[in-house]
Amino acid sequence: MAKNFDTMEDSNRSANPSIHQVSDPARRVWVQGGLAALAGGVLSPWIAGCASGGGGDPLLGFKGIPASAADTLVVPEGYLAEVIAAWGEPVGVPGAMPAWREDAGNSAADQALQMGMHHDGIHFYPLEGSSTRGLLAMNHEYTDDGLLHSDGFKTWSAEKVRKAQAAHGVAVIEVELKEGRWQMVRPSRSARRYTAYTPFAVQGPAAGHALMKTAADPDGRTVLGTLNNCASGMTPWGTYLSGEENWAYYFDGGDTPDADQKRWGARKTGSYRWAEHDERFDLRRHPNEFHRFGWVVEIDPLDPTSTPIKRTALGRAAHEGAWVAVTKDGRAVVYSGEDARFEYIYKFVSRDRIAPGGGNLTKAQANRELLDHGTLYVARFDADGTGRWLPLVHGQGPLTAANGFADAGEVLIKSRQASDRLGATKMDRPEWLAIDQNRREVYCTLTNNSARGAKDMPGVDAANPRANNVMGQIIRWTEDGDFDATTMRWSHLVLPGDPANARPEAKGNINGDIFACPDGLMLDARGVLWIQTDAHATQMNKGELARIGNNQMLACDRASGEIRRFLTGPVNCEITGATLTPDLRTMFINVQHPGETPSDRSDPAEPSRFSRWPFGGRPRSATVVIRRRDGGVIGS
Ligand code: FEO
Ligand code: CA
Ligand code: CA
Ligand code: CA
Repeated sequence: MAKNFDTMEDSNRSANPSIHQVSDPARRVWVQGGLAALAGGVLSPWIAGCASGGGGDPLLGFKGIPASAADTLVVPEGYLAEVIAAWGEPVGVPGAMPAWREDAGNSAADQALQMGMHHDGIHFYPLEGSSTRGLLAMNHEYTDDGLLHSDGFKTWSAEKVRKAQAAHGVAVIEVELKEGRWQMVRPSRSARRYTAYTPFAVQGPAAGHALMKTAADPDGRTVLGTLNNCASGMTPWGTYLSGEENWAYYFDGGDTPDADQKRWGARKTGSYRWAEHDERFDLRRHPNEFHRFGWVVEIDPLDPTSTPIKRTALGRAAHEGAWVAVTKDGRAVVYSGEDARFEYIYKFVSRDRIAPGGGNLTKAQANRELLDHGTLYVARFDADGTGRWLPLVHGQGPLTAANGFADAGEVLIKSRQASDRLGATKMDRPEWLAIDQNRREVYCTLTNNSARGAKDMPGVDAANPRANNVMGQIIRWTEDGDFDATTMRWSHLVLPGDPANARPEAKGNINGDIFACPDGLMLDARGVLWIQTDAHATQMNKGELARIGNNQMLACDRASGEIRRFLTGPVNCEITGATLTPDLRTMFINVQHPGETPSDRSDPAEPSRFSRWPFGGRPRSATVVIRRRDGGVIGS
């Protein structure tokens, strides 16, 4: 296996001499085919290599690329990839644009006005329908404090905690295609940051609940901040949904966490050392603060004055993100999974129809309470290929006061415990979902679960069929009738893996290019299903993943089942988030944590030990803009 790895690395190095990094210190462009082509001299349009051939245009028209272990980003022949909005760039708040400092010497106050760390889910909001000017809303999932501060962890202070909190959350920036290049528009009145201390309103059945009240917020209706924002979805009414994923690890639980805290993974000490200088994150002092995270948050990118909202009706979970389908009669159905081993997939069906807006209300304003009323369900996948949506309704079945659910609010705050009681299927880390509105089909990536089948752990089941599941799977289901159905039929789209592996569970059944650990997912308007991967630095390019290369992005033609590699990222990054302009001619993706250390903690003395992407210095998460040199539709 090591031999294969060496061969792959060598062949990539020799195969890619035509990838040029154009030395503009502030921006960097990756192209294939040489500088003359970039300059516009020889634009030999690339046509050959369409594997699917035959009559009509094939869905996938690009030439797939090899796996890569190099510290660079690679896109297919005929494509350009360019970095914008790297961590630390000022977002463009008028009169407040602190410049990036390569020594990581920016203050907490600076960071609150700059791009956060660890870019994740992203969505493009066209301005007046434009495909050349719009807003990008994106998540900043977490921080690597070894990289974030000049001296890493050498000292620890309230200022460092504040800077880490400022590097979390969501950014909204304005971007424009101008003189042939996408750039940030700065200043912009739309540019802003939401951080781990921005006030969020709490709405839905758990708002004002006794379990949501704290000394600082006796009403239980205002939470400071959003945390660990992972994936994102756009609503049909134009807002942005963002999932609070691994929020439990920000809290110090002390020596004796209670049963509820343990069920949510509270640890004696959290992963971020916030509690040392911010007592909100000390569970012994503020146990209810724990209940105020784990929600889907809704933001209106187009209205800088709007209040961001935590939507409790969608349930509390380690939410990867949230994605919206629409029933035939116009109600919203929000799908969401929890990225944690042996946790669940949910859907919420709104009580009311989506309002059209009009008069003096935007569509977003007309739907400000839509996600506060409805029914939450959790999925059970049965062995015969059917499935059932089990309602989390207080008073129904086991969800009674006698079993620890005093009211509707408590069912939602304790969604995990409620799902345990209902017998929902324990999944292999549900990540992103994608919805085919016309076919009533839903796809969900399950990234991996090495504990599946281990001692004292759940064994395999039909939906999670592999023990020691290092590869993950993509599951799909079709709702029976409409998106609000309580029954569905499911199957696997693909079991990732590498046929060269000895262990049968690690071979997979891919038709096309090999990959592992599916995470990001996006179905584009032409029907291409884009898949992004997130193998951890401890596994990447080793063992059963030896030939799979750095994390990557692939395109799937669902009709033929073919999967073709479209992009490979730099060393130890993950590829996450994808969005297209309405004309499908520009794609934005995020490269998260290039150079991540196996311990998730960088060495402050040498922060670039693993990667120097994108600018040759301190590794920085960033947005990558992808276009075709001939201006064509991405992927075609
Ligand atoms: Fe934040 Fe589940 O990836
Ligand atoms: Ca993810
Ligand atoms: Ca990750
Ligand atoms: Ca992931």
